[in-house]
Amino acid sequence: MRPRMHKLKLVPNSPVYYEFIRTLRNDERVQPGFIQQVQITPEEQHAYMEKYGQYYHVCLCDSQPAGYVGVIDHDIRVATHPDYQKKGVGKFMVQEIMKFFPDAYAKIKVDNHASLKLFTSAGFKTKYYILEKEPEQE
Ligand SMILES: CC(C)(COP(=O)(O)OP(=O)(O)OC[C@H]1O[C@@H](n2cnc3c(N)ncnc32)[C@H](O)[C@@H]1OP(=O)(O)O)[C@@H](O)C(=O)NCCC(=O)NCCS
Repeated sequence: MRPRMHKLKLVPNSPVYYEFIRTLRNDERVQPGFIQQVQITPEEQHAYMEKYGQYYHVCLCDSQPAGYVGVIDHDIRVATHPDYQKKGVGKFMVQEIMKFFPDAYAKIKVDNHASLKLFTSAGFKTKYYILEKEPEQE
């Protein structure tokens, strides 16, 4: 890892970050990393955040939102804005959030090499495989 050139800070989520989280989650450059492909509307985001926003944090890089991390039912969801990727933001977020949720785990798509590298680098080990049945062919 290159030395960090920016000041990183993990802050609790609040309504000022709802749009940042929504547009990052919807961003076609990060979307393929997630298991579910979604396009979240502002209204849906508001309702979701009212319920689960307390489980999210935002990473500020020199005071600018650079990524988010959330843990719901021990399951970590994390994204770094493409402008800030590969600078240590993801690893910083994972390491910080583990202080609040030490039992959290990551469920990673098999082709998501960036995420696998991130969690491996943060000290996670592969413990399980999840196998799903392919839909039957007609
Ligand atoms: C996965 C993701 C969060 C990584 O964020 P990031 O801020 O770029 O990660 P970091 O800069 O902290 O990198 C952590 C490690 O992963 C490596 N890494 C990051 N992106 C990588 C990539 N695309 N390919 C290979 N390695 C990568 C880094 O080199 C670093 O390794 P090191 O600690 O051994 O030097 C980011 O790529 C992302 O937002 N992806 C889309 C959403 C997603 O997939 N979320 C995870 C769902 S489980």
